[in-house]
Amino acid sequence: MSTGQLKNLSNLPPHVPENLVFDFDFYNPPMEDTDLHGAWTALQAPGIPDIVWSRCNGGHWIATRGSLIREAYEDHLHFSSECPFIPREVGEAYDFIPTSMDPPEQRQYRAIASKAVGLPVIDALESSIRELAISLIEDVRKKGKCNFTEAYAEPLPVRIFMLLAGLPEKDVPHLKYLSDQMTRPDGSMTFAEARDALYDYLVPVIKQKRETPANDAISKVVNSKIDGKLIDVDTAKRMCGLILVGGLDTVVNVLSFSMQFLAQSPEHRKELIKHPDRVDAATEELLRRFSVVSDGRILTSDYLFHGVELKKGDQILLPQLLTGLDERENACPMHVNFNREKISHTTFGHGAHLCLGQHLARREIKITLQEWLARIPEFEIEPNAKIHHQGGIVASVKSLPLVWDPNTTKAL
Ligand code: HEM
Repeated sequence: MSTGQLKNLSNLPPHVPENLVFDFDFYNPPMEDTDLHGAWTALQAPGIPDIVWSRCNGGHWIATRGSLIREAYEDHLHFSSECPFIPREVGEAYDFIPTSMDPPEQRQYRAIASKAVGLPVIDALESSIRELAISLIEDVRKKGKCNFTEAYAEPLPVRIFMLLAGLPEKDVPHLKYLSDQMTRPDGSMTFAEARDALYDYLVPVIKQKRETPANDAISKVVNSKIDGKLIDVDTAKRMCGLILVGGLDTVVNVLSFSMQFLAQSPEHRKELIKHPDRVDAATEELLRRFSVVSDGRILTSDYLFHGVELKKGDQILLPQLLTGLDERENACPMHVNFNREKISHTTFGHGAHLCLGQHLARREIKITLQEWLARIPEFEIEPNAKIHHQGGIVASVKSLPLVWDPNTTKAL
């Protein structure tokens, strides 16, 4: 179903008032290939309620404002992670751990995943991230052009992730394909088929990393204990599946959206080159403005939420990407400002499931800004190139052809 106000309202569930209907299809937001984030802000236009009902993707609520998104993510008693993806059949097939669990059960699994991808692990990886970033940039610098998604945005996080997870690089195409099918399906397989194919890949890996454990994220997860007992293979595969999907598809797209913006904004590039100390603020601002994830929750009981009657079993999309674009959270939200006093976003989620990969993501974005701008300070989008954005649980940039004059680049 496409986005927009369809006329026939006869198929509405009885508890949904007609004035709350706004048929936003988050897999296909209303845009002409480009400006995905602009398309999302239709949900925050004057007169649009803070909660709407979309008949797309099986029918679900959408919270349109940051304050409600946060409130729902804090309230796992009413808003459960048991079915976090929309449409329902995808959410029901989704069984990754700990994202499909609620506290308190979720906490001990989260603690294990945190040891595998937490800050100390990322600090130890920093020099590898920088080395790889520099070598990918040097591969293209003298050529004066590249498809950024293919040449940099995918290989950097994906190769670092394979290193972190202790998996061979030759497996990247298979794993990336499966992870894409889960977040932006192209119709070639169902979510459940992609998930099962991922598990078929992971089970032998788990067995091997039990026999000969190493110091990688998967070894740490599969050799950990729950209630004093070695974690079972079924639980281990559901935890590793999440870490894989989290690591293979998210940073890639934040990097691509951010570089598309920088290619079009010489002022922001110059500002960062002149003030390298602003790189942390710039990283956070780009994460706010070019947020990519949208998942949600399922209602555990009937619940009156901000005057709207939600029913047990209803699904609600709580788009993490929308909070930072809300003008009630950030003044002039579509404008990128590296000097904001306070940056408000839920790009990494909010509450009990706050992203465990956020340290890795921030480090990769920061290193990219530092190393790319130091070597290729001036670049633009290839003239006449049409950039395509795609919606989904993780929004994406399909390809990003960049060009520059090799004489303006620097060998460091
Ligand atoms: C820019 C990059 C990233 C973004 C925007 C992002 C976003 C998110 C969001 C929104 C959630 C919460 C989902 C929910 O509440 O339903 C989450 C959870 C999670 N993410 Fe990320 N993520 C990113 C990178 C990563 C990476 C690189 C990894 C792995 C290395 C990762 C691992 C996880 C894990 C394990 C959780 C589950 C935490 C829990 O359930 O307690 N993420 N992420």
